[in-house]
Amino acid sequence: MASPSDTFVTGANPLRDPADRRLPRIAGPSGLVIFGVTGDLSRKKLMPAVYDLANRGLLPPGFSLVGFARREWQHEDFAQEVHDAVKEHSRTPFREEVWQQLIQGMRFVQGTFDDDAAFEQLRDTIKELDEAQGTGGNFAFYLSVPPKFFPKVVQQLKKHGLADQADGAWRRAVIEKPFGHDLVSAKELNAIVHEVFAPDQVFRIDHYLGKETVQNILALRFANTLFEPIWNRSYVDHVQITMAEDIGIGGRAGYYDGIGAARDVIQNHLLQLLALTAMEEPASFDADALAAEKTKVLGAVRLPEDLGKGTVLAQYAGGWQGGEKVIGYLQEEGIDPHSKTDTYAAVKLRIDNRRWAGVPFYLRTGKRLGRRVTEIAVVFQRAPHSPFDHTATEELGQNALVIRVQPDEGVTLRFGSKVPGTSMEVRDVSMDFAYGESFTESSPEAYERLILDVLLGDANLFPRTEEVELSWKILDPIEQYWEKNGKPPQYSAGTWGPVEADEMLERDGRSWRRP
Ligand code: BG6
Repeated sequence: MASPSDTFVTGANPLRDPADRRLPRIAGPSGLVIFGVTGDLSRKKLMPAVYDLANRGLLPPGFSLVGFARREWQHEDFAQEVHDAVKEHSRTPFREEVWQQLIQGMRFVQGTFDDDAAFEQLRDTIKELDEAQGTGGNFAFYLSVPPKFFPKVVQQLKKHGLADQADGAWRRAVIEKPFGHDLVSAKELNAIVHEVFAPDQVFRIDHYLGKETVQNILALRFANTLFEPIWNRSYVDHVQITMAEDIGIGGRAGYYDGIGAARDVIQNHLLQLLALTAMEEPASFDADALAAEKTKVLGAVRLPEDLGKGTVLAQYAGGWQGGEKVIGYLQEEGIDPHSKTDTYAAVKLRIDNRRWAGVPFYLRTGKRLGRRVTEIAVVFQRAPHSPFDHTATEELGQNALVIRVQPDEGVTLRFGSKVPGTSMEVRDVSMDFAYGESFTESSPEAYERLILDVLLGDANLFPRTEEVELSWKILDPIEQYWEKNGKPPQYSAGTWGPVEADEMLERDGRSWRRP
């Protein structure tokens, strides 16, 4: 939770967007240091998010941004880089006066992670910013670097006294995924990080939790009376959680090969979506209470007994996507032509508790699928008895509540309705809530929300150590099984995945939704 000293409410900030005026959540004096500042994530997401926060008046006037990288840059080169990234990727319009204020606190430190002099320089830079910008010693260190560098960076922060919280100032570490590649490595990383930072100083990013539509799962479930009474095994037939992407692996071969879809997406994003969908109501909306419920439900997740039948990994072959011919995974630049890495993963999970016993949760993700869509579909049982003729209800499916996470953000309720006319024919219709129609403000990017929360010390939307470890515990046996059991089958790019995944649901008398 944000402590009062983390938050300050400005009387009048001329740069604040009127739409944000009712938000009291403004970061207090602080700065952000980004390691890996020349990377894609930094350029496309982090720098634009910092600007968007400044533009919305949610950062303090003296906010400082420090880039740390190997590049031979001067402060001005770094500022130019941020400028270009902001111009290209920020969500809100570019305003010169906001930029001019932000640039005052921009600094660059050149060096490698084992360069002691560079970390000394970082310490001096922070001191200088405290004086020039009034950052009060409050700094977050964002590790936007491959996990193999986490230990080194964290140890350097310790060695150079950068993790010390002296005189009421705070220091925080922000860690990007992947957090390890299995349970053992995740535990090792956790141990290293916690040698230096206390648990409340560590913020692990799962950017899905920063999405408005994902936070809305809790509002939908716990701020209403309508859904919760039927949110259980007595009414729910099964749940499908889909995160489909139409893109391939792009320029990320180095990161992706050997990792694959299950580790990249199921271990974090999809298991977090499952946890929010299935957990019990937390005692309050605070970090401890939320983590306790998510941990409980993740601890109750069970894998299918036969992993060969209850899980599917696959790899995209060439095909057609959006009218364009695209190459297969094995032909992508930088990929080992014999690679067994999965670009598609589907799993059937059980949750062994009173609410969910017997209700399967089907999770799937993949690259180069039919279209980009993330959704959670809660599919309800059929009516126990129908007074209508079979022929009259042929086109009636199962009721479903679909949380449309992206791109067409909203919620759909699907149910049967009489077709107008002289006979009683019942067919599926849907009732829609769309963010664009109900709200005038546009949703912030996930990274805006998460960076602001880090600066506020608000840990609600950040998975804890236990959640990360439990998620690996779920995934490890699947990875180990497929490691031993051969090459993943292929699916054509632009389709909805391999036939094996369809067969997995057919065996249960069900089918995947075609969102
Ligand atoms: C990342 C994965 O965590 O999420 C990527 O590493 C994936 O492989 C991305 O493309 C998708 O994020 P979003 O927000 O575009 O759904």
